[in-house]
Formats: sequence, C-alpha cells, structure tokens
Amino acid sequence: MDTHIWKNIGPLSEIPVRGARRLCFGHEGKPIAVFRTGADTFFALIDECPHKAGPLSEGIIAGNTVTCPLHNWVIELDSGNVAAPDEGNARSLPVRVEGGELFVGLPVRELA
Ligand code: FES
Repeated sequence: MDTHIWKNIGPLSEIPVRGARRLCFGHEGKPIAVFRTGADTFFALIDECPHKAGPLSEGIIAGNTVTCPLHNWVIELDSGNVAAPDEGNARSLPVRVEGGELFVGLPVRELA
C-alpha cells in the first residue's frame, strides 16, 4: 500500500505568484519543484522535463501549465502530462496547504 510522508516546505509567501521554487530535497534522486499559479493554486512536479530533463522550475507559468525553458514543451501542472502534440509525463506529487504553509507528499511504500 502506498502512503505519503508530508514535508513542510514553509510559508506560501515564499513561493512567488506565477513562479516556482526548486526544493532543497528531492525524491528518488530527482529534484522537486513547487509551482504557484496566478490563481494561487499550488502544485509539485519532479523538476525534470519529460523531453530532455529541462528545469521546469525555470519555465513560464500560464494558467495551470508551465512551459519548459529549453524547447517550449507545455506541461500541465496538475497531472504532469505534456500537452499535445508532444507526449510524456512529468511526475506530479500531491501538495496540501495547512496554516499558511505548504506541504509536499513524498510517496513511500508501507512495509506490511
Ligand atoms: S527539455 Fe523541456 S522541452 Fe526539451
């Protein structure tokens, strides 16, 4: 059964509107980025574009998407899916807001 360890990454105010932050810890050897949209919604993705591992945290956020800074693939922030005509998936991680702070859920496999 899968569950999550929830890591507190600090106040929401530390993530700029229509911006992103790469976290100081990763998941399974990959970097993680958190994103904040113009509508104040938060998302987390593995910070590697499915194309050639571009840093999505340095991309442009529009609506609920981020455009990769390297070759302009568009990634949906909620699912991590790449918008057509390109294909792929940047793994998404769950987030939650509690008391003005943001938490990212890191999947762990529970030992039976
Ligand atoms: S590495 Fe992201 S579009 Fe190429």
